[in-house]
Amino acid sequence: MKILIKNGRIVDPSQNLDEEGDLLIENETIAEIGSLSVGDAHVIDARGLVVCPGLVDMHVHLREPGREDEETIETGARAAIAGGFTSIACMPNTQPPIESEEGTRFVLAKARQARAAKVFPIAAATGGLKGEMLAEIGSAIRAGAVGISDDGFPIESPALMRRALEYVAMFDRPVMSHCEDKSLSGKGMMHEGLMSTLLGMGGIPPQAESISVARDLMLTELTRSRLHVCHVSTCESIELIHRAKAKGIRITCEVTPHHLVLTDEHLKDFDTNMKVNPPLRSKEHIICLRQALREGLIDAIASDHAPHAPEEKDQEFALAPFGMIGLETTLGIACTYLYHEAIIPLASLIALLSSRPARILKIDAGTLRKGSPADITIFDPDYEWVVDPSKFYSKSRNCPFSGWKLKGRVISVIVDGRVLFRDGQIMEEE
Ligand code: DOR
Ligand code: ZN
Repeated sequence: MKILIKNGRIVDPSQNLDEEGDLLIENETIAEIGSLSVGDAHVIDARGLVVCPGLVDMHVHLREPGREDEETIETGARAAIAGGFTSIACMPNTQPPIESEEGTRFVLAKARQARAAKVFPIAAATGGLKGEMLAEIGSAIRAGAVGISDDGFPIESPALMRRALEYVAMFDRPVMSHCEDKSLSGKGMMHEGLMSTLLGMGGIPPQAESISVARDLMLTELTRSRLHVCHVSTCESIELIHRAKAKGIRITCEVTPHHLVLTDEHLKDFDTNMKVNPPLRSKEHIICLRQALREGLIDAIASDHAPHAPEEKDQEFALAPFGMIGLETTLGIACTYLYHEAIIPLASLIALLSSRPARILKIDAGTLRKGSPADITIFDPDYEWVVDPSKFYSKSRNCPFSGWKLKGRVISVIVDGRVLFRDGQIMEEE
């Protein structure tokens, strides 16, 4: 079957392309871009819309196996589609954790059945995420894991982190590091500063992250391996990453939408949907993160979609788990606060959400090059809507942006040439 997307603004950072035109899909791949007329194609009118590579979210948490009440691989992959993502990489902190060949194959098999976004497993770095010894990294990567991580549980031992880096270097895959020194963050619940003092909550100093970033950078240099720093949230981390990149250390990093728009002041009402790790920081850190985006220092925007059950979030602040969902708001937040506020141009925003994370994970995505899989996102950067979590495809509702008015929304999503999302809805059948 042929699909012709007509008259869109085609933006593909992987080819430095930003022009009005048509895009033809044939046999699940991208056939041509230009001014086209094709007789026997199904036509999608994209006038006034942006047509770009299917978006890639390199950091999400699905809760299968173990907490299927919060999210399954299928519901997460569907929420991804509804957010404009055609590929997602999922973290291994499930119960049991995703590790070795078996765990990796499980995720891939479930994802294949889902008829939704493509799911790329990230396997555990240490056995059982316990930080005691390396997991079966080699067999996980051979089975299809795109990286390794103990996300949620920082790898405490520098020696073990060194071994993990050495091991993945053989496969040219990254260790995706949740940088946190637990001895500093302790029982903290929010950013340490004036707000934590006023609210009487235990604080997490920015140094808990930055010290760990510094350690991991040094170990990456030592091992000549690859490090990806997850959810960067502090000025000091940015400075360290800046210096490491200048030195040629092979390091990349991501930032989340929530760390770019929410501050520790949003915790004043003790809304547990604002409880996240790393914590929402103070204004000065947001300024650093936005400046780093402008300068091209940040490699990706990732949601860190972390679903939690209502009965767990509806507890007193100290008992509620860390995490917020983000798959269905990331594009809207990015358009509203980064593009419309002129922090970065549209092409950069799309690169941060597609070609750049795809390159880090070495997945066949994030480009509209001829012959590539026809994974395409069509969105309206000017569409205004109000966030209503009750309408989400995700199983969970722990969204911090409920009621927010956003400007920018996905219209259609195509995966391998199949239209999975159209006019704001998942297509249940073709
Ligand atoms: O807020 C968070 N939630 N941070 C993490 O590191 C883990 C995640 C989760 O799995 O809920
Ligand atoms: Zn995470």
